[in-house]
Amino acid sequence: MSIIERLASRFRRDTVSLELDDIQALILRSRPEPYVGIHAMLHFDEAEGARDLLGRLAPHIASADTWTDELDHWIGVAISYEGLQALGLPEDQLKTFPLPFQQGMAARAPQLRDQGPNAPENWDAVFTPGRCHLALTIYAVDDAALNRALASARVELDRAMGVTLLGEHRFGAPEGAKNPFGFRDSISQPAIEGSGVAPLPGEARPIKAGEFILGYPSETGVPLAMPEPAVLGRNGTFVVLRKYQSRVGCFNAFLKANGETAEARERLAAKMFGRWRSGAPLALAPNTDDPELGADPRRNNDFAYADDPKGRLVPLGCHMRRLNPRDAELTLLTDVNIHRIIRRSSTFGPVYSEDVVPADDAKGERGIFFIFVSARAFDTIEFMQQEWINRGNFIDLGEERDPVVGLHEGEQRFTIPQTPARKRIDGVQTFNVMKGGEYLFMPSLSALNWLAKAGWRNAAKHD
Ligand code: HEM
Repeated sequence: MSIIERLASRFRRDTVSLELDDIQALILRSRPEPYVGIHAMLHFDEAEGARDLLGRLAPHIASADTWTDELDHWIGVAISYEGLQALGLPEDQLKTFPLPFQQGMAARAPQLRDQGPNAPENWDAVFTPGRCHLALTIYAVDDAALNRALASARVELDRAMGVTLLGEHRFGAPEGAKNPFGFRDSISQPAIEGSGVAPLPGEARPIKAGEFILGYPSETGVPLAMPEPAVLGRNGTFVVLRKYQSRVGCFNAFLKANGETAEARERLAAKMFGRWRSGAPLALAPNTDDPELGADPRRNNDFAYADDPKGRLVPLGCHMRRLNPRDAELTLLTDVNIHRIIRRSSTFGPVYSEDVVPADDAKGERGIFFIFVSARAFDTIEFMQQEWINRGNFIDLGEERDPVVGLHEGEQRFTIPQTPARKRIDGVQTFNVMKGGEYLFMPSLSALNWLAKAGWRNAAKHD
């Protein structure tokens, strides 16, 4: 069964309470599998041309209403603060956006702990602060569908005056949707109230829609503050985009240095992520990989941590358990449900091979566009980067960091709880290095048209 067929079997229109036809498809639709796609970054040189382009792109952007249809591609767009400024949005409306968004990701480097090799000075030129105004993403089922979608987007771009294409980057992963380290990812996603899709086993209760889409009640019972006017904010959301270069060679060398046999290396890698390469969770398959379990969406996320308080099955400090501690008791109290994120990451570069060596990392050809959607995206990423990724206090691990995405200045340690004595492995490095990113706003389809028509002018006329 395809992903969409599986989704359709869980979809009931009479339970939908979101305005799906106004919400961009990319927010709710999972990646196809296998998938290909492209991220393009554009700069607006002048307002009228930029608004004209938005207006012509709008009909190409799929809505979430199609989300159980078999589409061969879909396009999404998101705009930075400087992008909104360049479109001419008036100051009093710009000020209604969250402060971190107004400042941009590079300026938030201290809060994001983006320092040393991850500091903005070392980012790709396209992420120079203020340059990226519009990020356009196309997901497609194969190269032919991607090329068709790209051709139609290019027609609109070629007609546009005053818009510069800064760069584009193709991505994709074959069957199994494995990331640069050879692990299946994007498995665990939150179920969203009112989306019409029933939760899968293990997804727990659906999270209030206002955590992910502006204008609906959040987990606190009321909607989060929204950009104004309502036509601009409602049904939109915020996006965090972070491009990582994956140092697969260093990761392989680390496994080799600490695992004498292939089994020992696979086990160590699984302990670092919390799942085996197939996606089978350690919580359900503690000893060996179980590819059938890994590929079964009704079973591969159906677990919790309360029965494993010391982390003997799933280490407390592994990537997956840090970023969603589920029902685990934490030393620092946190409401896990307000830190859930919809991940829409994409992998680029050659598929994983255990033969990749550290010298290959200099080519910089493998990596991940780590992308997520949340109505409180900026608070969430800054909290995750500070507490869950680059510290260990919340799980009594002091300064120990996430072994997959932590910034490891000087070599650091990963702890594997086991009996009789826990194992501490030194030599963890920054296996994913930041190459740039931005804080973005993903408007609703009506907001996109409103921006294209400079809707604020009409509002002023009616005042
Ligand atoms: C850039 C390199 C990264 C790699 C290679 C990576 C890999 C993975 C893998 C293999 C999983 C387990 C399968 C799944 O549920 O998708 C996972 C889960 C997850 N990752 Fe990452 N990840 C990366 C970056 C990040 C970052 C930067 C964050 C957050 C700021 C993050 C947040 C999460 C979350 C929330 C989960 C799901 C946990 C759960 O619900 O059980 N990841 N990641």
